[in-house]
Amino acid sequence: MALLALGFIAFAAVASVALAADADRETDLVAKLHMANTNLDRMELLPDDSDWFFDFTKQDKYTFSPGGVINANAATFPATVGQGMTLAMLNLGPCSMLPPHFHPRATNFVVAINGTTQTYMIAENGARTVTEVLKAGQMTIFPTASIHTMMNVGCENAQLISALNSDDSGTTNLANTFFSLPANITNTIIGGGISAQDIYGRIPTVGTGSSFGPDQCRAACAKQGKMIKREW
Ligand SMILES: *[C@@H]1O[C@H](CO)[C@@H](O)[C@H](O)[C@H]1NC(C)=O
Ligand SMILES: *[C@@H]1O[C@H](CO)[C@@H](O)[C@H](O)[C@H]1NC(C)=O
Repeated sequence: MALLALGFIAFAAVASVALAADADRETDLVAKLHMANTNLDRMELLPDDSDWFFDFTKQDKYTFSPGGVINANAATFPATVGQGMTLAMLNLGPCSMLPPHFHPRATNFVVAINGTTQTYMIAENGARTVTEVLKAGQMTIFPTASIHTMMNVGCENAQLISALNSDDSGTTNLANTFFSLPANITNTIIGGGISAQDIYGRIPTVGTGSSFGPDQCRAACAKQGKMIKREW
């Protein structure tokens, strides 16, 4: 049993690293696009109409169970190279959340397509927490490197569009990165004799970018017959 638990913790640690980012799909093409002198040179590298087409709904991370961040960026859609932005679709199942994270290289504008999503943003140490509730057609701003998180506070699927001003904005999840530090650092920060390694083993992996919401919210939605199945 103890061995199993250890194995799980080791797996979670490896998985959180392995799944932390979008897989780079066409490294050679992206390198050539970066090297190209002019826009016309870039267009020659993208000769087909299909090179300029991206279907969010056909991507692996397009799920509402629990949800997903589907990025159109330099890693997933080479035509974005040099355009200076990423467009992401955010899918959140009932109660699902994007755990606290920041983007090291981009300001992030988020607009809701539907559903009801609560957002929180902290710009830096000493700044107040800005919170909003976004419904269809409403937006908020997460400035570069601000910590932000959001939760679908409704019992229907929620969908939002996220625009970032870099084709390689990056994402850093707070809990996953903090708890990957050596235990003598994390245990000291937490204090009280609590084992940071035990906590690390329970933190959801970065996965699709979304994780399940609080049990209380999920139970309330389940009563309405609106709950997604938790798959573990
Ligand atoms: C929002 O749109 C998604 C994707 O089309 C859909 O699954 C979901 O049911 C919609 N939610 C609401 C509240 O209309
Ligand atoms: C903290 O832990 C790391 C990794 O186990 C180790 O390399 C380092 O020497 C430790 N530092 C101190 C001050 O104990």
